Amino acid sequence: MENKITTTIIDYGYDGEGVGKVNGKVCFVPYVLKDEQVEIRIVDEKKDFIYGKLEKVILPSHKRIKARCPYFADCGGCSYQHTDYVEELEIKRQLAERQLKKLNYNGEIKVHPSPNEYNYRNKIKLFVEDKKIGLKRRNSNEISAIDNCDLAENLINKALHTINIFVKTHDLYDKLENIVLRQEGENCLINFYVKTPIDNNLMKQLYDNLGQNYGIYHTLGKKKMHICGLKFLETKEFSLSCRFSPYSFHQVNDYVCQKLYKRVLDEVNGKNVVNCYSGNGVLSGVLCQKCQKVTAIELGKSEHEEAEKLKQINKLQNLTNINGDCADVLPKIVNSFDTIIIDPPRKGVDKKVIQAIDNVDFKKLIYISCNIATLIRDLQRLKDIKIECVELFDMFARTGEYEMLAVITKDKKSL
Ligand SMILES: C[S@@+](CC[C@H](N)C(=O)[O-])C[C@H]1O[C@@H](n2cnc3c(N)ncnc32)[C@H](O)[C@@H]1O
Repeated sequence: MENKITTTIIDYGYDGEGVGKVNGKVCFVPYVLKDEQVEIRIVDEKKDFIYGKLEKVILPSHKRIKARCPYFADCGGCSYQHTDYVEELEIKRQLAERQLKKLNYNGEIKVHPSPNEYNYRNKIKLFVEDKKIGLKRRNSNEISAIDNCDLAENLINKALHTINIFVKTHDLYDKLENIVLRQEGENCLINFYVKTPIDNNLMKQLYDNLGQNYGIYHTLGKKKMHICGLKFLETKEFSLSCRFSPYSFHQVNDYVCQKLYKRVLDEVNGKNVVNCYSGNGVLSGVLCQKCQKVTAIELGKSEHEEAEKLKQINKLQNLTNINGDCADVLPKIVNSFDTIIIDPPRKGVDKKVIQAIDNVDFKKLIYISCNIATLIRDLQRLKDIKIECVELFDMFARTGEYEMLAVITKDKKSL
C-alpha cells in the first residue's frame, strides 16, 4: 500500500487531532485543521482506523498560524500551536458540546479563555532518559529534549536552561529520573527525583548559578530532602496567605484558577459545604469566606498538611480538613451538607462516592473536572439530576486538555 497519501480533514477527534478518510477508514492526524488538504504518512493501521503523521500541508486553513515553539509537534506537550487561539477555543467548545450530548445537555457552554496563551504554567515535570531532559512525544514514551517550554513561566525556563548545561557538564543523566519545577510569583522550587543521590555540594553549585529566588530539593523514593535555597513558595491568593511545598497538587494556571474558584464561589449559596478532593486547601479557604461551615476531604498527605497550615495561618475557624479517601469518608458524612463540591483526578470518582451523593437531597453539586470523559461517565451514574450549566475553563491553553465545571441540582420533577 502507498504510504504517503493525500486527504482532506473533515472533523476533529476527541484530542483535537484532525480526522480524514483514507482507504475508506477513519484516519487521525495531529496538528492539522478542518478543511485542510494534507499529505500524510501512515504510521499505524488498525482494523477500523489509521493513525497518520502530517508530512505536508497542501491547502492550509486561513486559521493556520506558524507555531512559535521550535519543539512543537516533536515534543508532545502542545496540540494547538498551529492555530489561532480563538479557533483553538472553538474546537475545544465543539468537542465538549459533542460529548455532552451523551448527557442530553444541549445548553450553552460558556468558555473562559486563558488570559495568557503562553508562559502561564507554574509547574512542569520533565523526564530524564537517554542523556536527554525533556517531555514525552505524543502517544510515546520517547523523550523529546527541550531547553525551553513556551507554556512555562519565566523562572522555570531560566532554571531549565541552566539545569541542561549543569547536568551535561557533570554527566548526571543516569542519576536522574524526573525534574519538577514550580514557580509562584518571583520564586521557584526545583525538585530532582533521583535514582541515586547527587552530591549536595554539586547541588549548591547549581543554586549559586541560579540565585536566591530558587530552592532545591532531592527526592529519593519516599525520602524528601531540602538541599538549599528557598524551602517554600509563599504567596497571597484570594487574600489568603499560602505556603506551598514542591510536593502538593496545585492548579497549573493561576489566572484561570482564579476565574474557576470565583465561579465556584458565585454558585455556592449553601451554608454547609463539603469540598471533596480538596488539594492544598486554597479553594476551601476561599469557600470559608462565604459559607458557615466547610469540610474538606483530601487523600494526599502533603496536600492535607498544606491545607492544615493554610487553615492555621489564615485562622479559618469554620474549616475542617479530613485526611482520607473520599470513597471512605464521604458516605459517612454526606448527610450533613447542602452543597457538595467534587474536583477529582482524571480518573473521576469512585462508585461509592456516586452512591453517597445519590442518597442525599443536596441543594447543589458542583463537579470540577479535567477529563470530560469521566465527568460524563460519573454524571450518567447519578439519578434524578438536572444539569444547570456547564462551562469550559481553558486551564491548559495550547494543549489538548481543558477544565470543565458542571453545576447540578436534584431534578424534583423526576422524583
Ligand atoms: C484535581 S486535584 C484538585 C485539588 C483542588 N480541588 C484544587 O483545586 O487544587 C485532585 C485532588 O484529589 C486528591 N485525591 C486523589 N484521589 C483522592 C481520593 N480518593 N480521595 C480524596 N482525595 C483524592 C489528589 O491528591 C488531588 O489533590
